[in-house]
Amino acid sequence: MAKKTTAFRCKDCGAPSVKWTGNCGRCGVWGTVEEVGSVVSAAKATDLVSLGSFDGTQAVPVPTGIGECDRVLGGGLVPGSVTLLSGEPGIGKSTLSLQIALSVASTGASVVVVTGEEAPGQVAARASRLGEIPPSLSVIDDTSVDVIEATLRLTRPQLAVIDSIQTLVVPEVDGTPGSVVQVRAAAHRLTELAKSTDISVILIGHVTKDGTLAGPRLLEHVVDTVVSFSGDRHHDLRFLRTSKHRFGPTNDVGLFEMTGAGLSGVEDPSARFLADRCVGAPGSIVVPALDERRPVLAEIQALTSPNGDRPPQLTSQGVGSGRLKLVAAVLEQRAGVKLWGNDIFASAAGGAEVKDPGADLGLALAIRSAVTGRPYPPDVVACGEIGLAGEIRSVAQLDRRLQEAHRLGFRRAIVPASAPDGPTGLKLIRVSTLAEAVSAVEPVSV
Ligand code: TYD
Ligand code: MG
Repeated sequence: MAKKTTAFRCKDCGAPSVKWTGNCGRCGVWGTVEEVGSVVSAAKATDLVSLGSFDGTQAVPVPTGIGECDRVLGGGLVPGSVTLLSGEPGIGKSTLSLQIALSVASTGASVVVVTGEEAPGQVAARASRLGEIPPSLSVIDDTSVDVIEATLRLTRPQLAVIDSIQTLVVPEVDGTPGSVVQVRAAAHRLTELAKSTDISVILIGHVTKDGTLAGPRLLEHVVDTVVSFSGDRHHDLRFLRTSKHRFGPTNDVGLFEMTGAGLSGVEDPSARFLADRCVGAPGSIVVPALDERRPVLAEIQALTSPNGDRPPQLTSQGVGSGRLKLVAAVLEQRAGVKLWGNDIFASAAGGAEVKDPGADLGLALAIRSAVTGRPYPPDVVACGEIGLAGEIRSVAQLDRRLQEAHRLGFRRAIVPASAPDGPTGLKLIRVSTLAEAVSAVEPVSV
């Protein structure tokens, strides 16, 4: 129903108000508040509240006790926050969240897991493989949001894990579980619950490879934090990244390895990626790449295979196919490395994902080494973005990348001309063009 609302304003300081008061709420002067007109609207107006009167202290995260999770979350889970953990089916979301649940419960805090996907017996079997089950870890074997909400309001755990949001049912809403309306309604209800009770909530959501399934995409604006779990199911490596985080930066990455006893954090990814490196093989070079904010050394490998007299076919794994095309074209056109008549395969070894343009130079040199059949000396790394004119451009966070290369025992680095001095003991070879880079360090003869 339409409603007439009268507006008031202080004629001294101009502070607006929706009701008449004897003295002004802002400047405190008596007798200055006067009517300035009225509006007709369907809604009742609310009082304006000064922003400064709210408690603006930063929310303090509570550690999960899983180091790689806490790294990505900026310290842990904030009480009353909702975190969406998304990823493809089978990638390890249930395992990771169960490990978080076990870890938090092992401190004595109460934790509840809603087991919409699996029977409680299956969850118990998995949990007992991952560690001892603390008495403060409980399950709710129900998918009705009404039941879940009532139980959580009553029991007030520190953490509730919902596995998964796609299995929940909001009885008042039409649609089958997993449908857009159901997923959205369930997430809204649980978000309100979290805010009003200070329970931290983890929502698990499945996505398909192209991200089309109803669920996670819809929820990104509702929740406080979105973390995605990814990796190649044929490798053991898993990457945890934040794409939204209301309480801190989003540019870190957590690394895990899926083992027989659950996920274990990879504390030294560079050492892990270089563990099986075949030193002295042609077509290989190590690049100090950046995964989000974290410097990671990765081995780039290239192989060429004669294809008759045809243009190269390019195949890539773990390195962007767009980068490979660009690098191959510039290598041929600007640095005079003949690729015609060869198919080119390029990969980041050991399941690494190198999407950073700073890996361009390493990719170019690996291809060049493959073409000549001569390996680079094993103590060399290369880092730089390649431009279409064949220039080597500077990259973000080069100092941290070089520190990481030095820590892992590398002694020489081919870098852009503008590079700052690196750590003592790491010799920098500065280059402005790819042609210069190609002749700066000669691959050794075998
Ligand atoms: P899961 O956590 O069920 O994936 P999601 O919830 O994302 O669908 O993990 C599934 C895979 O993880 C499954 O193929 C088995 C494997 N796995 C291990 O290799 N080791 C383990 O200790 C556990 C618990 C699972
Ligand atoms: Mg699961």
